[in-house]
Amino acid sequence: MIPDEHVLLAPYCTLGVGGSARFFVDAEDEATVTDAWTWARSRGVALSVLGGGSNLVVGDAGVDGLVVRVGVRGIETADKGHEVVVSVGAGEPWDPLVAVTVECGWAGLECLSGIPGLVGATPIQNVGAYGQEVAETLVTLRALDTRSGRVVRLTHTDCRFAYRDSLFKSGEPGRFIVLDVTYRLRRGGEPTLRYAEVAQHLGARGVGRPSLAEVRASVITIRRSKSMVIDPGDENARSCGSFFTNPIVSVAEADRVQAVTGEPVMPRYPQADGRVKLAAAWLIEHAGFSKGQRDGAVGLSTRHALAVVAHAGATASDVLAFARRIQHDVEARFGVRLTPEPVFWGV
Ligand code: EPU
Repeated sequence: MIPDEHVLLAPYCTLGVGGSARFFVDAEDEATVTDAWTWARSRGVALSVLGGGSNLVVGDAGVDGLVVRVGVRGIETADKGHEVVVSVGAGEPWDPLVAVTVECGWAGLECLSGIPGLVGATPIQNVGAYGQEVAETLVTLRALDTRSGRVVRLTHTDCRFAYRDSLFKSGEPGRFIVLDVTYRLRRGGEPTLRYAEVAQHLGARGVGRPSLAEVRASVITIRRSKSMVIDPGDENARSCGSFFTNPIVSVAEADRVQAVTGEPVMPRYPQADGRVKLAAAWLIEHAGFSKGQRDGAVGLSTRHALAVVAHAGATASDVLAFARRIQHDVEARFGVRLTPEPVFWGV
């Protein structure tokens, strides 16, 4: 394994900003991932893993280490009566996988349609949308443990999933390189219909008992209307989706924030633990930002206030300065600190 040197990372990220990787390797099989680990370890070089680059902000100075793009492919299925167990290589593109499962009539991933990126990234931030998250169907995964150099199998419990979080994101970031992920899906199962917007969209079309395919189509239509489906022709194309997570606060805190807004209605989503999830996009707009607002070469998406968009000529510093301004203004207005959602390298 001989890595390439000084490889610009911007083309590998949907945001399209950032500097170069000092070393870079495309790993299309597990042996190359292990070789990359050995190579980096023997030279004392830091190792970072790249998937589809759709949730990543690379700093302008780039990454002084080895970036491994995990492209391990392959899909295997095993019948388990009413369920089917699907094991997928980390480098498989996510949405084509979802399309296949929907076509086969396997329920569990249909609401996660239209999400960019690769399978291996889905456990990292427990990808979720429109009423589902991968933690509901993920049963196990295999990963290279960079501490020992061994391939290990982690169970669902090991992964410590939470809203947009896991062992891999906040627990021990960088320790595990995901190689494949196993999901358990329901053969002939009913689609999940928990998100009001999806139910309304289907209801408006007279679809009473939707199929998996109808839910998938509806989710993709809604995502597209918010520029949350990657489309190079879209003026909002260069983003990394939601730039902040939705804050989860106590009921008392939510009441306090609502009182500050002075609005009779504020989006509030009750959580199983009794707390309340607030809508970061709504807070951003009520802190004085508007969709489509620009600050030089960066701005907010014209269709969703939670997406920061990089336009021609934008640098990572521009993106970060704008994001900090949003964070500052929301905190100054509401006393709520927004947590950035993407992964940051060299920042
Ligand atoms: N809203 C606004 N302004 C906007 C957009 C939304 O005020 O420009 C308010 C509305 O009240 C709306 C509420 O925010 O009802 C929620 O908006 P939306 O349904 O678009 O969802 P979100 O909370 O902004 C989350 C995820 C998305 C995921 C959607 C759908 C996070 C950080 N984001 O967004 O995930 O697709 O729900 O489930 O949890 C991502 O992680 O990159 C991502 C796109």
